Amino acid sequence: MNPGAEAVTNLDLFSPISLGELTLPNRVIMAPLTRNRAAVPDNVPRAMSATYYAQRASAGLIIAEATQVSPEGVGYPATPGIHSDAQVLGWRTVNDAVHAQGGRIFLQLWYCGRISHPDLLPDNQQPVSASAIRAEGDAVTPEGLKPFVEPRALRADEIPGIVNQYRQAAKFSMDAGFDGVEIHSANGYLLDQFVRDGTNRRDDRYGGSLENRSRLLMEVLSAVLETWEPSRVGVRISPENSFNDIRDSDPQATFNFIATALSGKGLGYLHVVEGDMMSDERNVDYRQIRDNFDGYYMANCSYDKARAESAIARSDADMVSFGQLLLANPDLVERFRMDAELNTPDPDTFYGGDGKGYTDYPALA
Ligand code: PHB
Repeated sequence: MNPGAEAVTNLDLFSPISLGELTLPNRVIMAPLTRNRAAVPDNVPRAMSATYYAQRASAGLIIAEATQVSPEGVGYPATPGIHSDAQVLGWRTVNDAVHAQGGRIFLQLWYCGRISHPDLLPDNQQPVSASAIRAEGDAVTPEGLKPFVEPRALRADEIPGIVNQYRQAAKFSMDAGFDGVEIHSANGYLLDQFVRDGTNRRDDRYGGSLENRSRLLMEVLSAVLETWEPSRVGVRISPENSFNDIRDSDPQATFNFIATALSGKGLGYLHVVEGDMMSDERNVDYRQIRDNFDGYYMANCSYDKARAESAIARSDADMVSFGQLLLANPDLVERFRMDAELNTPDPDTFYGGDGKGYTDYPALA
């Protein structure tokens, strides 16, 4: 526990915060949100995504939706990628629009692993994971829901190729004009499949000890840091989220270790999904994770303004990310400032479709 942990600071959601030379004007962050509106089959962001993100440029930082680093990393239809020239151009249009509105935007780098399906992958290949353990549940394929298949355990000699896909995606992200990147190591996707012991039964240097289970994440981080200043790199984790049928026998120990391992590098932030999207139970002390990490802590999971204000005042968090609230309120920062009423999100238009429920949520008059 920090000696000052109980003290109340005079910081609030509207206090600026700096990631190296990038100053965020406030601490209301847009969480990465999958919206399935990329052009198919090439997974290129469409022009309406530039409008959508630019409308939300007053957020302290936008973390753009999870974006696959390679064709093999895909796990859902119509999600964008960052591995082709056309995708770089598509994202550049988005980023130019956000910057023209005075905003800041990071890209979330994603590889789905076993949360995919042969129907979504090149040559209908089998999805890969840390170990050959099938997820309970269904993949979202272009033909609708289909049961997940058993993934193939990556061979150790294939792992440098995966790391290289992130290395290339980090470079493409810079070419596309992003301000930084977030490594997606949460929510049951590939990096999380290596970290958590429910999905990692390996007996090589990528399995067993906490050091081994976090090795792929650390190798990916090193590759990304070849392109980006550490302050422009965040990492997202979700210690007790069971979404995508994933679990760990000791999430507190696992993620205290990860928070420590990510320290001493000058990273921009650690982004933590606090809790379980599938239940209200909470068994992890997030203050320990916060205290084990030496940089900024970004909290996420159903925060409203009051909880976010209190987390920042008590120094339980440095920033708070909002998903559905920013989805439905492009001017959420202004609405929070004025304690104005909020638009209600429409779940029917979260995933896929056109501008309805995407670019047509009204700002305050
Ligand atoms: C989703 O598409 O449902 C999704 C994507 C990324 C996440 C969580 C959920 O981190």
